[in-house]
Amino acid sequence: MAVAVAGLAAGALLVTGLAAEAGSASAAGSAGLKTLAEAKGRYFGTALTQSNLSVPALTAVAAAQFDMVTPGNEMKWDTTEPSNGSYNFAPGDQIVSYAQSIGAKVRGHNLVWHSQLPSWVSSLPTAQVQAAMEAHITTEATHYKGKVYSWDVVNEPFNEDGTLRQDAFYAAMGSGYIADALRTAHAADPGAKLYLNDYNIEGENAKSDAMYNLVSSLKAQGVPIDGVGLESHFILGQVPSTLQANMQRFAALGVNVAVTELDDRIQLPASSANLSQQASDYAAVVNACLTVTGCVGVSQWGVGDADSWIPGTFSGYGAATMYDNNYQPKPAYSAVVTALGGSTSSPSASASASASPSPSASATGSAGACKVADVVNAWNTGLTENITLTNTGSTTISGWSLGFTLPAGQTVTSAWNTTITPASGTVTGVNLSYNGTLAPGAATTIGFQATHTGNAAAPAAFTLNGRSCTAG
Ligand code: XIL
Repeated sequence: MAVAVAGLAAGALLVTGLAAEAGSASAAGSAGLKTLAEAKGRYFGTALTQSNLSVPALTAVAAAQFDMVTPGNEMKWDTTEPSNGSYNFAPGDQIVSYAQSIGAKVRGHNLVWHSQLPSWVSSLPTAQVQAAMEAHITTEATHYKGKVYSWDVVNEPFNEDGTLRQDAFYAAMGSGYIADALRTAHAADPGAKLYLNDYNIEGENAKSDAMYNLVSSLKAQGVPIDGVGLESHFILGQVPSTLQANMQRFAALGVNVAVTELDDRIQLPASSANLSQQASDYAAVVNACLTVTGCVGVSQWGVGDADSWIPGTFSGYGAATMYDNNYQPKPAYSAVVTALGGSTSSPSASASASASPSPSASATGSAGACKVADVVNAWNTGLTENITLTNTGSTTISGWSLGFTLPAGQTVTSAWNTTITPASGTVTGVNLSYNGTLAPGAATTIGFQATHTGNAAAPAAFTLNGRSCTAG
């Protein structure tokens, strides 16, 4: 069965599609990765960056599939404290509010890392590094107190041979910087789960042995440590056979483990055999996590192949995620659904139905100062809808409210980049603090998730500040 797509004019087609779909798609599979994972006591997450939030096809998948969000870059030191004592939490805040809008939690990433570290830190006299590190941790963890599920307190501390990286923190404090960072983070936000996160520690090897010994020693000293993040940037066909045993040995120390940045890179172009292998790789990772009681969840690094850091970092490689460049689910998606106990009979209905902008206009009045493109992705009982509104007028809009009528049976359950009231019938979406100003030509994308009872069509018309919008 093909995808369920609804533009403003495609509602009838959509409803027909859904009727046919309902028989074949299992409710579980259609519910998305997060619902399946939650039924197993786990979460399923993704990394998101600020620019991702304005891609409707991406956010439709994010809202439907993921209940954990890791900011891709927005909470790193170079963004949050670009110069000594001067903090910028706006980008991270935007990711947090988006995550909240889709009912997702946040993995804070990260407080201390040798990379994406502003040069002012590495140029400090060593005697000043500890105070700078503690101030950074305290300020950032306090800012996000109560808003993050966990923190990657120290990111990537190890070399491949299991020695500690000789970065500015190690140079200033020796190995004790890690315990100090954990204690400082705990003091600032006692409710956050505190993690050490690294790559190439997924299987049993010298590097994961070193992490194991470190965690063991931290636990013995009573240092607050709650979990180990296995980044899991895999190469096709190379998921370590010791992944589950390795997770298990960490769990036996009394810490959680999480798969924090999963991707599985393929040498391009990817063949269909490659995509099948990737499906088994993804399933192996999810199965390992489900088998180990202390594994709390799996997060992919980016929603789709178009968002992945892989092509920019590993030349010649790509296609590393569960969604292709157009946010269509790949075989890995079906394999993960199956691993989570769902049905793969109709993955496209549950994932990102093909997201095409509405083909038809819905203008009910003369051309207004606004244009609305509306994309619905629906499954048998629910839908996500992303609405891009553009200021087509010649004056800046300062504050907006978008009026529309939800088709009968639709009830909004969450919204992003807007607040929608009431939940059904004729509703109004109003801007949030960061997207209320629209210069001429500027656009913003908002959206919502809703339940429906069979009619998943888009609203027939929109008004912006009382004026009818054109579609497009
Ligand atoms: C990556 C981001 O995805 C890129 O946008 C950025 O240019 C570099 O960092 N390990 C981590 C992540 O812990 O923070 C990295 O993210 C990927 C590797």
